[in-house]
Amino acid sequence: MEKTMRTPIIAGNWKLNKTISEAVALTTALKALVAEVSDVEIIVAPPFTALAAVRDAIADSNIHLSAQDVYSEDSGAFTGEVSAPMLKDVGCDYVIIGHSERRQYFDETNESVNQKVKAALAHGLKPIICVGEQLEERESGQTEAVIEDHVTGGTAGLSAAELLSCVIAYEPVWAIGTGKTATPAQAQEVHSFIRGLLTKAYSAEVASQLCIQYGGSVKPENASELMAEPDVDGALVGGASLEAESFAQIVKFDQ
Ligand code: PGA
Repeated sequence: MEKTMRTPIIAGNWKLNKTISEAVALTTALKALVAEVSDVEIIVAPPFTALAAVRDAIADSNIHLSAQDVYSEDSGAFTGEVSAPMLKDVGCDYVIIGHSERRQYFDETNESVNQKVKAALAHGLKPIICVGEQLEERESGQTEAVIEDHVTGGTAGLSAAELLSCVIAYEPVWAIGTGKTATPAQAQEVHSFIRGLLTKAYSAEVASQLCIQYGGSVKPENASELMAEPDVDGALVGGASLEAESFAQIVKFDQ
């Protein structure tokens, strides 16, 4: 499948930012700026506390709701956790799973990522599975090994149909929040490697339909050159998604 057949997916990961009123203000401003966009899937991922308010603010718009994490169990004695049925209930279509900050600070592993991915899929949520190498790993030539480990670990046991309900986000850890973006060529190299892995594990047809986002210091200034690469199908945006204007410019990368 040609890249042009894959709908670009641009997601804003707000991380630990925005009160409810700030979230609604940002969403309301964004909604107006991207109202005419019909060829890009637009997603915002507010913190849990703002999900319901943002759901109401995006009603009847072209913006979709995502959470930033999910727990693998549906219910029970798991103090502090939020489950896939709860996220579905609040109006989420997507959930980010295995973000490098969760791997780094909250002991997320490939196994827990895989359990969360399966829980999300079981309840009709689309997982955005994050993968990416650290700087030392890149510098010591381990990038492909790390990416293979994250991709195969995160997607283990998924059917082709389940895989195609997922998005993979390649986020080199050294580019997240650092202002240091991967070059378009560096991003393309890893995206094409990921598509190759999934071609082997599934088929060329399945791999060619999967959306692979790039994340790590995506800004209005670099979005279109990254998106021009043949295997870069979208962006997972942190810092630049906290302002309506800059996120809208990224969403409109091709205008
Ligand atoms: P950044 O974050 O755009 O602030 O680098 C990206 C991410 O962590 O998803």
